Amino acid sequence: MSDPAGSLEDELRAVVTDAHLLTDPSVVASYETDWTGRFHGRARCVVRPVDTGQVAGVLTAAAREKAGVSIQGGNTGLVGGSVPADGTILLSTARLTSLEPVDVVAGQVTVGAGVTLSALQRHVRPAGFDFGVDFAARESCTLGGMVATNAGGERVLRYGTTRSQVLGVEAVLADGSVISRLGGLPKDNTGYDVASLLAGSEGTLGVLTRLRLRLVPLLTGRAVALVAVDDTAGALTLVRHVRDRLASLEAAELFFADGLALVRGATGMSDPFPEPHPAYVVLECAGRTEPLDDLLEALAACEAVRDATVATDVRGRHTLWAYRESHTESINAAGVPVKLDVAVPLTSLPAVVADLPATIAGASPTARMILFGHVNEGNLHVNVLDAGRDAEAVTDAVLRLVASHGGSISAEHGIGRAKRPWLSLSRSTAEIAMMRAIRYGLDPAGRLNPGVLFDPA
Ligand code: FAD
Ligand code: MLT
Ligand code: ZN
Repeated sequence: MSDPAGSLEDELRAVVTDAHLLTDPSVVASYETDWTGRFHGRARCVVRPVDTGQVAGVLTAAAREKAGVSIQGGNTGLVGGSVPADGTILLSTARLTSLEPVDVVAGQVTVGAGVTLSALQRHVRPAGFDFGVDFAARESCTLGGMVATNAGGERVLRYGTTRSQVLGVEAVLADGSVISRLGGLPKDNTGYDVASLLAGSEGTLGVLTRLRLRLVPLLTGRAVALVAVDDTAGALTLVRHVRDRLASLEAAELFFADGLALVRGATGMSDPFPEPHPAYVVLECAGRTEPLDDLLEALAACEAVRDATVATDVRGRHTLWAYRESHTESINAAGVPVKLDVAVPLTSLPAVVADLPATIAGASPTARMILFGHVNEGNLHVNVLDAGRDAEAVTDAVLRLVASHGGSISAEHGIGRAKRPWLSLSRSTAEIAMMRAIRYGLDPAGRLNPGVLFDPA
């Protein structure tokens, strides 16, 4: 950094005001570790801009002084992308919380990138709409972080990933210039689709400040089933059976007996069934009318079902979901995990699940695996506890197994810092060269989110 000590901070203070330039190390520290506790970085300072103009001011000042900028939303990301690179300005989007009125004609809304998922849900539901993406971090994760990582979650089966919900973005590029395309036209073929390009770019192309989002109808008739099955093949049979019969199917989530035991130990929840089972699937159906009868009929006709319990009331549904959604926190309560979020073709899913224990044991004899995931997308969350010094070896072994089946080394969390060395397992040399050309074309010195997705410049 070339500026005389203090002058960049003075410029930033002039942009965001004194109250929103944080330099006290004890305050800055709360932004420096990720949700899992595995990734850390040291920020030079934290800035908390309130609107696109202030974000542009921050990036213009940083560009002038050749300073790096790391971007943080709700800091729930699981691949180390949200912690600062050492010495960078940490730009927090926490104050970009504008919520514009719901456009009920178009079924769209424009929101600030710092709006949390739960705040968006509270904003649009009274107007009869919902957001197509949902998952357990809803109270903290932001729409900006969700778009930047193209978050998936529990409703991809019905609505697709976050990218499919984004009709337009406003963003500030590394040089401080603003692109704003928030018209929300569903048909607009006038060259490159900026919103799609920025979705999943993990903050390496620009700071998202506002988002034009597609909404879906609010469906209040809901039925949730927790279904016991024998194994992964049984889970696939069940999901295919229900999916082929019920258009109302919204979610299909898989977990196993050891995950259930961990969750029960951490939460005190009771056993859902009189007998233990090797594997479990949470299914949720949603419609304008209650889909319980249809769901029960489909379950009764499915050979893979070993036991099932259902709920339609809010509390009962929440309890059944808690067996699945509590996995992440329960795993973290047991230690700092190596989290590998992969996807494989459905035809390979049973084989990969069967191979994982030996693959992990071969890399780390002390390691303990907890597996769960979004079964319809072949998306497995491979969580490894007690890997100790073998974290890299475990990562390497699991990601190579996945790649050998034609899978993706990141289904939904992104590459971040955690998987950067393995990107070439999922992307060809030509693809990586194209991505780098776009990134460094927009940001030649690689000052935006250095160390995320690509090696630091
Ligand atoms: P952060 O963690 O702050 O940042 C994530 C990345 O996005 C970083 O690289 C950051 O630099 C970048 N970024 C953040 N905001 C912006 C912005 N405005 N402009 C540009 N770049 C930005 N993920 C899933 O996909 N599916 C799940 O089911 C899921 N479940 C989860 C459950 C729990 C309990 C937890 C803790 C996490 C879960 N996640 C899941 C991961 C995480 O919540 C999502 O990736 C989420 O989208 C991150 O949002 P965030 O605001 O916390 O982003
Ligand atoms: C989930 O599906 O619960 C998340 O992606 C979080 C995790 O992988 O732990
Ligand atoms: Zn997930």
